[in-house]
Amino acid sequence: MSYAIEIANYCYHYSDGTDALCNINLNIEHGERVALIGPNGAGKSTLLLAMNLFVKGKGRLLIDGIEGKSRNTKKIRSVIGTVLQNPDEQLFMPTVFEDVAFGPLNMGMSMEEASERANETLKEVGLGGKGSKAPYHLSAGQKRAAAIATILSMKPKIITMDEPDTSLDPRNRKTIVELLGRLSQTLLVATCNMDFAARVCKRVVLINNGEIIADGKSHEVMSDAELMECNGLEVPSIYP
Ligand SMILES: Nc1ncnc2c1ncn2[C@@H]1O[C@H](COP(=O)(O)OP(=O)(O)O)[C@@H](O)[C@H]1O
Ligand SMILES: [Mg+2]
Repeated sequence: MSYAIEIANYCYHYSDGTDALCNINLNIEHGERVALIGPNGAGKSTLLLAMNLFVKGKGRLLIDGIEGKSRNTKKIRSVIGTVLQNPDEQLFMPTVFEDVAFGPLNMGMSMEEASERANETLKEVGLGGKGSKAPYHLSAGQKRAAAIATILSMKPKIITMDEPDTSLDPRNRKTIVELLGRLSQTLLVATCNMDFAARVCKRVVLINNGEIIADGKSHEVMSDAELMECNGLEVPSIYP
C-alpha cells in the first residue's frame, strides 16, 4: 500500500538561490488530516506547490504512489487538488456555479454530469442556491467555501490548502473548520493559526527555514511552549 504523500530527501531552491525546502522527509497516510504549521517564510507554500508539481525540486516525491515526474503531471493532478491562499486566484468565472463546474468539465464530463456535480458540491460546502452569484459578490467566508468547492467538485483523493483561515472572522472561520471536519479526503492544511490547526488536525508538521522541525500529535507538538516560541509560533489558546 502506498502513502497518500511520500517525500524523502527532497530539496528545492528558487532561481534567486533561496533554499526554500531542505531535505524534507514526510509520509502522510490515506485519510489523514495534517496541519503544516510554521511562521511566514517557513516554506509551507513551497512544499504545497512541490506536492502539486507547480515547482520541481530534487529528491523523492510520490503522490498516491505516482512518481512526481513531469510526465506524470496530469495523473498526479487528478489525485491531488490544491486550494490556493487567495480565493480570487481560484475563482475566475462569471458565476460561482461555472467556477465549480469548470474542473469536472475539464475532466471530460458532459455538461449534465458536471452541472450535477457542481450543484452537489455547492450544497456540500453550504452554498446551495448561491451558484448564480458572481464570486465577487460573496462574503469572505463564502468565497473561501467556493474556492474549496472548485477543488472538491473534481473529487481528488488528496487536498492541500494554503492558509484557508486567513482573512476570516471567527464565525466564518468556524464554518470552514466544520466544513473541513466533514471532508473524508486526505488533507494537508498549511496555516500559521495554531488554534485553527488544533481544531482541524490531529497531526501537525512544523516547518521552519525549509526544514521539518517536528512531526507528531497536534497536542504534543503544539503544547511545547519552548518549541513553539523559538519557531515564531504560539501554543493554541484553546489548550488548557
Ligand atoms: N518566487 C519566489 N522566488 C524566490 N524566493 C521565494 C519565492 N517564493 C517564496 N520564496 C522564499 O522561499 C521561502 C519560503 O517561502 P514560502 O514557501 O512562501 O513560505 P510560507 O508559505 O511558509 O510563508 C521564503 O524565504 C521566501 O522568501
Ligand atoms: Mg505561504
